[in-house]
Amino acid sequence: MMRIGMLTSGGDCQSLNATMRGVAKTLYNSMGDVEIIGFEEGYKGLMYADYRIMKSSDFSGILTEGGTILGTSRQPFKLMRQPDEQGRDKVEMMKHTYHRLRLDCLVVLGGNGSQKTANLLSQEGLNVIGLPKTIDNDLWGTDMTFGFQSAVNIATNAIDCIHTTAASHGRVFIVEIMGHKVGWLTLHAGLAGGADIILLPEIPYDINVVADAIKKRAKAGKRFSILAVAEGAISKENAALSKKEQKKLQQNNPYPSIAYEVGARINELTGQEVRVTVPGHMQRGGAPCPYDRVLSTRLGAAAGKMIMDGKYGYLVGIRNNEIVNVPLADVAGKLKMVSPDCDMIKEAKLVGISFGDE
Ligand code: F6P
Repeated sequence: MMRIGMLTSGGDCQSLNATMRGVAKTLYNSMGDVEIIGFEEGYKGLMYADYRIMKSSDFSGILTEGGTILGTSRQPFKLMRQPDEQGRDKVEMMKHTYHRLRLDCLVVLGGNGSQKTANLLSQEGLNVIGLPKTIDNDLWGTDMTFGFQSAVNIATNAIDCIHTTAASHGRVFIVEIMGHKVGWLTLHAGLAGGADIILLPEIPYDINVVADAIKKRAKAGKRFSILAVAEGAISKENAALSKKEQKKLQQNNPYPSIAYEVGARINELTGQEVRVTVPGHMQRGGAPCPYDRVLSTRLGAAAGKMIMDGKYGYLVGIRNNEIVNVPLADVAGKLKMVSPDCDMIKEAKLVGISFGDE
């Protein structure tokens, strides 16, 4: 009998359950003689042997359920080599659990940090398969991560809702969108929601350029402006500072987040009334959208097939709509960022969207 461990790690997203279901259904349908062991709260469950033996019924009816039936937690990669509170080696504990349960493979659903740990475990001799989770879509090696399109829907909906109130009041509205250090979510939701100005971490902004774009709209008779601002957006001055200087500046920053800072500066420079909306973790919640359900089912099925073929040490991704296997060693530690010169940015600029850079 094959014994497969499974865990969900890092921030949750809408399509984790759908992906686990894809793996599980493939294995139960094709092998029969298989046991799936679910670790609670990500790598923590693997470290402390907190697990349950799953039944095939656990994976039924969860295609449309957000969150994760296994729970998740953040276990930063940089702390993996540091001992736990009782001085125990975390990597050794994870290996011990894996061997004690006589696992044939560990399936890790996670984003960047989680795949770095997956690679570490793979290098330590465990059979590991990674599946690309994150609303940020910043995982290298795959065009798309599951959770991303569902989050785009929610962030777009937030901008849509803001549109009607912005138009009524004639104000400047800022919607701050998640995405950590990358701008994929903001770029997609900003385009889909018809934002007038989009600020991304990859394209540092000049606040005077942003203010001018708003003034220009007002002059042209537009009663409102909508900005989609990535939570990681950064001004040109700050981007020019060293990481240490940036950190110091952040510690003394009086604003709760970047959208409030941008809002205050816009008010100063344009005299227009500004409102800020932060949808926050709503963007990770609710049911997965149909795109994600399809993607998760495909990725999950492909991972199941890899387990049956004994092909380990890979992230299962998608490129040009085809499933690909990318070595975990190639994925680990790399971020997939928005290129400021990519077609999508050029096209957005062609339709008049300002990125605050020129
Ligand atoms: O990586 C997903 C994400 O939602 C990011 O977009 C965001 O920066 C971060 O997680 C928030 O983390 P937490 O849930 O720990 O507050």
